Amino acid sequence: MEKIVVFTGAGVSAESGLKTFRDMGGLWGEYAIEDVASPAGWKRNPAVVLDFYNERRKAVLAARPNAAHEAIARLEEQFDVVVVTQNVDDLHERAGSSKIIHVHGEILKARSSIDASLVHVLDKPTIELGELCGKGSQLRPDIVWFGENVRHMDECAEHFAEASRVITIGTSLTVYPAAGLVEKAPWRAEKYLVSPEPQEIPYGFKFLRGAAATVVPHVVKCWLEGRKPV
Ligand code: APR
Repeated sequence: MEKIVVFTGAGVSAESGLKTFRDMGGLWGEYAIEDVASPAGWKRNPAVVLDFYNERRKAVLAARPNAAHEAIARLEEQFDVVVVTQNVDDLHERAGSSKIIHVHGEILKARSSIDASLVHVLDKPTIELGELCGKGSQLRPDIVWFGENVRHMDECAEHFAEASRVITIGTSLTVYPAAGLVEKAPWRAEKYLVSPEPQEIPYGFKFLRGAAATVVPHVVKCWLEGRKPV
């Protein structure tokens, strides 16, 4: 079975009502990264960090997968699909994709702040100050903050290298090392980048202009019918 790698960022969840980071109205326009998404910010004021993720977690729980997430799940009818996502929401899971790798963590999980292996799925929307892990340290979101190790990079690089098709959706490709994964795609692979506005297109990728919920279902329909999308 042909392997397809679907590489997603915040833009794939924008039409589900979740904020992106660097667009107008994005999260980094409202919050300072160092306050809410860095170990220093956590050390300085954990309550501010917990509130930031509690708000985003409630938004994720209230959101629904959009037509792009659902189309990506349909690809599994004919292809070996690996979704490599920078997103921490569970919309790919809820749309039915079965092989999803979260390189920046998952907002619906909590972990110990002294032992990263102590992780559990949250059974409520918030993590509060004073909620401790089994080793007695404050629970934190199971999210990779700036300056922390991004996850599963070697495994993801292998999936990209084995892909015959790669579609990158809704990411500004500005945050490394995740953004560097696109360079692992074989030169002979069919490669597309979906975004509503022009951005720097990685070498060998075709730019498909438009919103994910419009463009991705079109690409998936073409692929399932054995056609090229352009
Ligand atoms: N459909 C497709 N793409 C969209 C849509 C849409 N409806 N709306 C916005 N976009 C595009 C924007 O044009 C932009 O290129 O999605 C991209 C979002 O870029 P960012 O906000 O930078 O999000 P992302 O690339 O996922 O950020 C990467 O940065 O802050 C960290 O850890 C965080 O995982 C995140 C990482």
